[in-house]
Amino acid sequence: MLIRHATLPDGRSDIDVLVRDGRISAIDRGLTAPDGTPEIDAAGQLLAPSFVDAHFHMDSTLSYGLPRVNASGTLLEGIALWGELKPHLTQEALVERALQYCDWAVAKGLLAIRTHVDVCDDRLLAVEALLQVKRQVAPYLDLQLVAFPQDGLLRSPTALTNLKRALDKGVDVVGGIPHFERTMADGAESVRILCELAAERGLRVDMHCDESDDPMSRHIETLAFHAQRLGLHGRVTGSHLTSMHSMDNYYVSKLIPLMTEAQVHVVANPLINITLQGRHDTYPKRRGMTRVPELMAAGVNVAFGHDCVMDPWYPLGSGDMLEVAQMGLHVAQMTSPAQIAACFDAVTVNGAQALGLDRHGIAVGCDADLVLLQARSVVEAVRLRANRLRVWRRGRQVAGSVPAVSQLSLPGRPASVDWTLSR
Ligand code: FE2
Repeated sequence: MLIRHATLPDGRSDIDVLVRDGRISAIDRGLTAPDGTPEIDAAGQLLAPSFVDAHFHMDSTLSYGLPRVNASGTLLEGIALWGELKPHLTQEALVERALQYCDWAVAKGLLAIRTHVDVCDDRLLAVEALLQVKRQVAPYLDLQLVAFPQDGLLRSPTALTNLKRALDKGVDVVGGIPHFERTMADGAESVRILCELAAERGLRVDMHCDESDDPMSRHIETLAFHAQRLGLHGRVTGSHLTSMHSMDNYYVSKLIPLMTEAQVHVVANPLINITLQGRHDTYPKRRGMTRVPELMAAGVNVAFGHDCVMDPWYPLGSGDMLEVAQMGLHVAQMTSPAQIAACFDAVTVNGAQALGLDRHGIAVGCDADLVLLQARSVVEAVRLRANRLRVWRRGRQVAGSVPAVSQLSLPGRPASVDWTLSR
């Protein structure tokens, strides 16, 4: 396949991209291809690497309203509500909801998702279900599973045993939730145990870490320490880190270099962080998202995750990572063109780096996991939450949509809306 006249995320225009055997084999202007090679005219639209969601909960997705909705809107009521729902889950319902969400994801050009899966259910029902889904969607979507002890590794009596059982069954990544343990000391101990377990098994780590408004919740410091101590550089992710929003600036000036040294990846979840954090504040209310531009400036790889879609924690969402990028740039006040582009990277290439997807991107040798967007730049793509014209997985089209056109019936005006600046 030869895609002609594309604009790339770095701004290069009129570029041709040649795909062979599911991989990108050439990128240049005016490429030629053997006779019979199918050609697609991108007509100047943005060709981007597929979207990556670095943090999701696929075991709870699309369960909104079961058995009731979250009245307070807090993280803690969400966890309690999930606890009420868990005994009533069936493997069939979990698989069905996850597969439906994967359909939504593919339609939005989202082809790689790291999902946490709760292991605090002795039946490991969700683990079995998502392992089945992972196998089933593998031809069109990379699903990476994190063993997540939702009720606390040390607080829940069978969590550690269950977590190891989940890893034995094929779950990819070691998870944790230190801020939910009984004490700060237990939280730190859980981080040590989990990092050592990951080091022993040669696995990556991705912990829910300091997901609170407590400026004294400092498990990210412990996570960076053990990543550095155990040589897990570049293999550890701190998810949420919302307490960093509320921390003392002097302390953060010491913390961020430690995170850079340990090459810890950071995942912020803008839609959920802005919704769940600051709920105990009156006014002014804190935003509660981690310090995205400061971490990026220090060289930390920062990705954005969706976290939740229609579940006990969040009533909205459709698998649209451009919605996530847009919320991220608003919450972080990242409105310059370079900062908007950085937020686009946070839902594409930065996520791939956190997940360890080595062949993701637009470069020769990368997998042809691509999205053609109805936009002429990354800024326009984010601004318009652009229509996904075509989605390719390993060079095969897996989704597509007709160009979105809004008709007008106004005297003396054009027949359709032009959403771009006319100058
Ligand atoms: Fe999460």
